[in-house]
Formats: sequence, C-alpha cells, structure tokens
Amino acid sequence: MRLEVGITGKTFKSAAGETHEVLAPIRFALQSGEVGVLIGPSGCGKSTMLRIILGLDRDYQGHVARPPEARVGMVFQEPRLLPWRSVEQNVRLAAPDVSDAKLAELFRILELEAHRSHFPGELSLGLARRVALARAFAVEPDILVLDEPLASLDDALAGRLRDEIATLVASRPVTTLLVTHSLDDAVRLGDRLFFLSPRPARILAEVPIGIPREARGDAAIAAIKAGLARRAPDEQGGERAGRDVS
Ligand SMILES: Nc1ncnc2c1ncn2[C@@H]1O[C@H](COP(=O)(O)OP(=O)(O)OP(=O)(O)O)[C@@H](O)[C@H]1O
Ligand SMILES: [Mg+2]
Repeated sequence: MRLEVGITGKTFKSAAGETHEVLAPIRFALQSGEVGVLIGPSGCGKSTMLRIILGLDRDYQGHVARPPEARVGMVFQEPRLLPWRSVEQNVRLAAPDVSDAKLAELFRILELEAHRSHFPGELSLGLARRVALARAFAVEPDILVLDEPLASLDDALAGRLRDEIATLVASRPVTTLLVTHSLDDAVRLGDRLFFLSPRPARILAEVPIGIPREARGDAAIAAIKAGLARRAPDEQGGERAGRDVS
C-alpha cells in the first residue's frame, strides 16, 4: 500500500520555552512492496518523523497519507514490550489472529523459541528487539516501520536477522520504512535510500538502488557502497540540496 509523506515542518518546545525546529519540509512516497531507508545523523529527527508517520504525533505541519485499512507493524527504537506479559502474550496481544504455525515460524526464525514464556524483564535488549520484530511481523503488516531494529545485536545475529527481514519483506507486498545507521543494512535491504541532513532533517539525497533486492550479490553490494562513499561529501555538506524527491 502506498505511503505518502508530505511533512512541511515540525517543532518542539524545550522545557525553557524555546522553539526547536526538528523537521524541515520532507516529501516522499513509497509504493507497495518498496523498502525506503532513512539514514541520518543521531538527533536529526528520524524517530520523530516515524512517530508522525505512524499517527502517534499529530502536532506537525503537512500531511501523511496511507490507506485507512492498512495494517501497520512497527518496531520502535526501544522495544516497548508490556512488562507484565510473557513474550508469547506480547506478540499475541498485538496480533490476535496469528496462527500457532505462524507464531512458531516467527519464533524459530528470530531464535526466540526458548523464550516464549519469559517476561520482558528477563530478556537482554537484543532478545527484546527480536520480540518486537516478531510482534511487528505477526501482524502481517501492509506497512512496516522499523526504527534501528538491528541495533545492539552482535554482527552475526544482526546479519542473520537482516536476511530474515529481507525474506519476510519479500514474502508479501509490504511497504517498509527502515531507519538505520548501517550503510550495509541500507544497501542490502533498501530499494531507495534517503540521506538526511542534521536537524532540522531534510532529504539531502535520494538514491534509488537499481538492482532488485533478490538479485544483489555481495559484489553488487560492495560496488553500490563504494559508489555511495564517493558521493558522500555532497551528501554531508548540508549546503547542496539533493535531487527533488517529489
Ligand atoms: N518530546 C520531545 N520534546 C522535545 N524535544 C524532543 C522530543 N523528542 C525529540 N526531541 C528532539 O528532537 C530531535 C530529534 O529527535 P529524534 O529522536 O527524532 O532523533 P533521531 O534522528 O531519531 O536520533 P537517533 O539516531 O539518535 O535515534 C532531538 O534533538 C531531540 O532532542
Ligand atoms: Mg531515533
């Protein structure tokens, strides 16, 4: 399902009453099945943008459009599990219609089988993130929003989970928006990369990746990353606007 973002501005008021501009005008649209990736410096406004897109923050200028019937799955930067519910209950509460077979498959893929009856307080941050991923996928979302889902995982596990995210995203037509600080994850998972400026975030460059996700081998990925590294000075300069992304 199509996700259309047309934010024209977002400000926060500090405790001292000063106004801080967090988002500059940001416009982009993602089509069904497409994976957009947001890459930008810490504090530039990425999580703020995701909260707006999810409808959790309505205090902004502009508009966000997604079909009202769209099922939305999300992984927040902090796992946000209900502490008094087990791992399995956390997932089932978000996805009451999930079948036992689907749940078993997700727990197997995310290596959570041994933790079904554990409570969030008994989990490491990495395990809690995997539960948050299981919860987001159990919903069978039409729109999937992932805020640094692979942070705080060791490289080997992050790599396996990244592959599983790729598989799950490819298994149904889900429109995905991913925030990451990892260029490698961005290039492996994304169809279009959006490089953001420091706060207030605006899109400095939009980079489509021509090769379909499933056809990207390690050599192609290395070449794309090398190409991005060559462009990086433009994107980090902050003065030169990227291409129009409307
Ligand atoms: N509720 C709030 N009230 C005031 N300022 C806020 C609030 N939430 C976020 N901010 C400020 O807005 C800016 C953007 O925050 P945000 O969490 O969106 O950044 P981010 O790009 O997600 O960073 P990171 O990569 O570290 O997660 C920061 O300067 C932050 O301090
Ligand atoms: Mg954030």
